Amino acid sequence: MRKHTLCFLMMLGAMVTLTSAYAQQKMEKSFKPSELWHDTDGQLINAHGGGILYANKKYYWFGEKRGKQVSQGVTVYSSKDLYAWKYEGVALSPDKNSESEITEGCLIERPKVIYNKKTSKYVMWFHLELKGKGYAAAKVGVAVSDKVTGPYKFVDSFRPNGNMSRDMNLFVDDDGSAYHIYSSDENMNMRISKLTNDYLKATKEDKLLFRRQREAPAIFKYQKRYYLVSSGCTGWAPNEASVHMADNLFGPWKLMGDPMKGPNAKSTFGGQSTYVLPLVGKKDAFIFIADKWNPKDLMDSRYIWLPVQFIEGQVKIEWMDQWNLDWFKKTIL
Ligand code: DGJ
Repeated sequence: MRKHTLCFLMMLGAMVTLTSAYAQQKMEKSFKPSELWHDTDGQLINAHGGGILYANKKYYWFGEKRGKQVSQGVTVYSSKDLYAWKYEGVALSPDKNSESEITEGCLIERPKVIYNKKTSKYVMWFHLELKGKGYAAAKVGVAVSDKVTGPYKFVDSFRPNGNMSRDMNLFVDDDGSAYHIYSSDENMNMRISKLTNDYLKATKEDKLLFRRQREAPAIFKYQKRYYLVSSGCTGWAPNEASVHMADNLFGPWKLMGDPMKGPNAKSTFGGQSTYVLPLVGKKDAFIFIADKWNPKDLMDSRYIWLPVQFIEGQVKIEWMDQWNLDWFKKTIL
């Protein structure tokens, strides 16, 4: 067989495999934690350390766009059903200007977007590390947009109230007040700060949540109580998760132990928490979202989505090879 015919056949084969993998995924309408997840164009979803915002009747998934190692900004995908994700583009791009704090080569990690009803702006906070400085800067970056999909404009970077801030999350409470939860003091402490009304800055209401070396905070509210899932600090390598619970965001926070159950539970199934998504239109239904990092090729890091269960006052997150949203219908929470 001629070389170019062979090449063509191989390419055709690869395309058929990709298309059928995507078609299968589309038909199945299910989540397969740790497997390859494609968008509606058949491309691998590249949105790590992410978070999800519900706006205009769709879910928007924001996450780190990664090359093998490099940080390439923040991507955004949209979905009506949480299974089929349409690529909407790069919401926040690194700046070509070498003077900018988000110049190409900086690190943009764990982006989270919230909507401010008062200013009608979408506000993104992320963990920012400056180019060539490793993880020394320990800052947050803030960017805004009038449109959910962006482009977001970088507006500021700072250490909240002078505190180091690495892994982080945002939380909007029922009264519209927003909070930044962040690993501080070389990751030795987890802290919280209340945001200003425009969500662009941290207020002086800033407190230590607990003194424990934790990263990857993922917070949610269930039946008037707050729950915070976090990981230990072992770089990209997985470790044991834990959940804390509180009646008040500013504490006291009580350690409830490791919520993960099933094979590989002691290392969070090979993953690290990033977000807990409350399902829209379904009371008390939450999806735990984690990243299964591949430090040799960060772009190929996988996603772990699992339902959150509440059993006799305890949070349980159990491994499932495959599941779908019907799980919430069948299960009495
Ligand atoms: C663990 C953090 O959770 C990640 O977001 C990333 O910063 C890695 N450390 C880098 O080693």
